[in-house]
Amino acid sequence: MKKIGILTSGGDCPGLNATIRGVAKSCYEIMDNAEIIGIQNGYYGLINNIAREMKPSDFSGILTLGGTILGSKRQPFKMLSMDEEKIKAMKDTYKKLKLDCLLTLGGCGTHKTANLLSTEGLNVIGLPKTIDNDIFGTDYTFGYYTAIDIATECIDRLHTTATSHSRVMVCEIMGNKVGWLTLSAGIAGGADIILIPEIPYDIDKLISAVTKRAENGKSFSIIAVAEGAYDVNEAKMKKKERAKKREEEHIITATNRIVAQIQNATGMDTRACVPGHILRGGSPNAFDRILATKLGAKAAELIKEENFGKTVALVNNKITTNKLSDIAGITKFIEEDNQLLLTAKDIGIHFGV
Ligand code: F6P
Repeated sequence: MKKIGILTSGGDCPGLNATIRGVAKSCYEIMDNAEIIGIQNGYYGLINNIAREMKPSDFSGILTLGGTILGSKRQPFKMLSMDEEKIKAMKDTYKKLKLDCLLTLGGCGTHKTANLLSTEGLNVIGLPKTIDNDIFGTDYTFGYYTAIDIATECIDRLHTTATSHSRVMVCEIMGNKVGWLTLSAGIAGGADIILIPEIPYDIDKLISAVTKRAENGKSFSIIAVAEGAYDVNEAKMKKKERAKKREEEHIITATNRIVAQIQNATGMDTRACVPGHILRGGSPNAFDRILATKLGAKAAELIKEENFGKTVALVNNKITTNKLSDIAGITKFIEEDNQLLLTAKDIGIHFGV
């Protein structure tokens, strides 16, 4: 008998349930006696021993379901300040539940904790989830392509209204550290300007790009801006200093500031649109359902082989694994030579620089 604990942690995304289902179905298929314990609300449930025994029927009908049947919570601690007490509580729950292994579905923070628990001697396997696609060592995370579809539809819809009203539409797309989602949806939706955290923008150059388009007879512009984008002046600041400045300006993201700056400088009607959590909700697309199922089945294989301390990954379109210790704590940024970025530049998308 193998007793498998499973939890989902951090922000939810489409494909979590499809992955849980993939793990469960495959475990039941390839192991004689697999028992799955659902841990509620991520590491919070592990700390507080909130868990339930799951039946095969719990995994039926969830392939297409958004969110997570296990619930999720942001980590109630920062890794560096994670106290001994919480680590001990998680280890105690693992022992009390008599788990043979723990599966953690989550993003960067989740993987850091997973690695920590692995170094503490627990049998842990990670599964990479996030619409941000910022987990190092995997080409794509499940949830990402669905979010691209939704963000692209937002940009498509903004296009028609922007054209009708000869407006500049600034669409803020999630991604606080990285611009993968904004870049991809920006390309797919035909954005004219894309602003991402990896390339701090210069507001004057951004404004002249909008003006130039207007001079060339394009009476509207679509700007896809990542939630975490910042300008060249902010780029010189430390993170805390930047946050303080934004607090003084009463802004959290750069979007509304950009809108005001463009409106004031060009006189063009400029509007912001923030789809926000809509990008994370709803059913996973076919790509994510397949990816989730493949990753889930691979995780089951690792459990059977007792191959722990790993995270499942997609590398060059092949399902493989990374050591948790090799990828935990590393953010996957868009590099200068990234093909997607180069393609965007090739077709004349402006990056505000
Ligand atoms: O990490 C995924 C993500 O959706 C980010 O893009 C975004 O910055 C963040 O989560 C929002 O978090 P919350 O759901 O806690 O508001």
